[in-house]
Amino acid sequence: MSDKSDSSASFENYLAECADKITVVIDQLIAPAVGPEAQLMRAMRHGALAGGKRLRPFITIEVGRMFDAPEKSLLRAASALECVHAYSLIHDDLPCMDDDDLRRGQPTVHIAFDEATAVLAGDALQTLAFEILANPETHGDATVRCKLIEVLASSSGSRGMVGGQMIDMAPSFDDENALSILTRMQRMKTGALFACAAEFGAIIGGANEQEHHALAGFTHDLGLAFQIKDDLLDVQGDESVVGKAVSKDKDAGKQNFVSLLGEEGAVSRVNMLADQAKQHLSVFGGRASTLLNTVNFVLDRHH
Ligand code: IPE
Ligand code: IPE
Ligand code: MG
Ligand code: MG
Ligand code: MG
Repeated sequence: MSDKSDSSASFENYLAECADKITVVIDQLIAPAVGPEAQLMRAMRHGALAGGKRLRPFITIEVGRMFDAPEKSLLRAASALECVHAYSLIHDDLPCMDDDDLRRGQPTVHIAFDEATAVLAGDALQTLAFEILANPETHGDATVRCKLIEVLASSSGSRGMVGGQMIDMAPSFDDENALSILTRMQRMKTGALFACAAEFGAIIGGANEQEHHALAGFTHDLGLAFQIKDDLLDVQGDESVVGKAVSKDKDAGKQNFVSLLGEEGAVSRVNMLADQAKQHLSVFGGRASTLLNTVNFVLDRHH
């Protein structure tokens, strides 16, 4: 095995260890499946615990580690963010949105249960996220907890993920503005939760203004690169590896960076964004080595 594949294999092992820790925390935080509403908790578990790279929590934890932030706070905040991500995927897969049957290699929540349960499981994961953040177990300082709540709310709401999902529902954009609308859409629907991930680590770690700014630049570029790579996987990926249906965007005639720039153009855009993302980390020197590897993972990922 070459050095490169050795280091990417050890990065993936490290990412998987972090994913397991997040799964344990979320598992403890979802209420037990008892009572007449038990199906709701079973559906929440299905959507939030079955697989997933846990890349957003990983970013929170790695940013926090650069500042020696307490692990418990990082794990709880990262889990809250992952609950919002899981809710976004459950709703994204619904028949009224992308109408997908497969997610993380498993039937989507509305297939495993039913549509009403999937809507409710998404809703309940979202509110669980804010309950986690508001709990003093997440951080002893109420000002820090309020800041985390504010950042998650703004990143996931109409100016962030949900707003981006709204733009994504448009059948197409006029050619003249397509690239700028798509950039805005991707930054909102995907970039905003990546920005939240780093911001969580920075808030808990007590980063200074320059460090917040550098991290915002980092996730601005990484989030967009991540979504363009997702669009490339729709064209180039293998369903059994990606864990979700491929050729969906293509068959639906969806406009994205791949349809607009072509596969080669999209690849070079991802590479350019990855370089830019890395440059933003230079202020952290050697402390950012894991975040640099995260950029490489996003470039090379097959799932
Ligand atoms: C999928 O996100 C949705 C996008 C924003 C493209 P991920 O690729 O991070 O999905 P999981 O959490 O690993 O399943
Ligand atoms: C969804 O983007 C991003 C979200 C905010 C959920 P996609 O629709 O491309 O994500 P996948 O391909 O279904 O994971
Ligand atoms: Mg979608
Ligand atoms: Mg989708
Ligand atoms: Mg996609």
